[in-house]
Amino acid sequence: MKPQFITTSDGSHTIYLPEMDEQYHSVNGAVTESNYVYIDKGYLFHESKTPKIFEVGFGTGLNCLLTALMAEQQKRPTTFYSIEKYPLKKEITDQLNYGELISEEAQTLFKNIHDCSWNKTVEISKYFKLIKLNADLLNIELNHTESCDIVYFDAFGPDKQPEMWQPEVLKKIYTFTSAEGVFVTYSAKGVVRRQLTTCGFEMERLPGPPGKIHMLRGIKKDSAILLQKK
Ligand SMILES: C[S@@+](CC[C@H](N)C(=O)[O-])C[C@H]1O[C@@H](n2cnc3c(N)ncnc32)[C@H](O)[C@@H]1O
Repeated sequence: MKPQFITTSDGSHTIYLPEMDEQYHSVNGAVTESNYVYIDKGYLFHESKTPKIFEVGFGTGLNCLLTALMAEQQKRPTTFYSIEKYPLKKEITDQLNYGELISEEAQTLFKNIHDCSWNKTVEISKYFKLIKLNADLLNIELNHTESCDIVYFDAFGPDKQPEMWQPEVLKKIYTFTSAEGVFVTYSAKGVVRRQLTTCGFEMERLPGPPGKIHMLRGIKKDSAILLQKK
């Protein structure tokens, strides 16, 4: 079955997969949700001057685009790893309206983000480097020497794709996160929160984007800081 386009409340597109009965973003505004959950609560919250981000689920490239725009605005050199098992076809991504909806700069960035090769480090713009990994999160070995500061956990929902939210997968990501690293996700499920706490993240439930009461943010506390606290 072909992916279908939905226009969400703020006018931005998302993609709906009929076979899964799942969409890539909230119908209450795709750009609004991405900006709120990943940019405001993740990217802008972390204090690193040169953040490294790891995104689960490249999808439409919307989170990537909004991060690139913010990196340029803040002149903040940013490295963005994004893993995707099922890249969308160009005929689909070409029709997404994010660039035209946001700005001319966004249009150019979005084109560069989609046109660049997979599995290579590419300089998309002055302050934004992208590594799109065409791989399966469930099988990939994450190299711990390359740990990341901010995790955008944007998998399909735990009800639709439970294997992505298993404790072993979350633990792998926890190990890959640097001390004081931040984990953000749109999901606020109790089971997700408990599993992330078990992994070692200090979790907080934040007010959610439009249409959602809550979202989750976790911080990987430096074990030395935790010991001092005890
Ligand atoms: C909610 S969408 C991501 C939306 C995306 N962040 C965006 O800005 O458009 C979830 C994504 O996870 C991808 N995915 C599903 N299973 C995966 C796996 N095992 N490994 C990596 N990516 C996977 C899907 O193909 C889909 O693109």
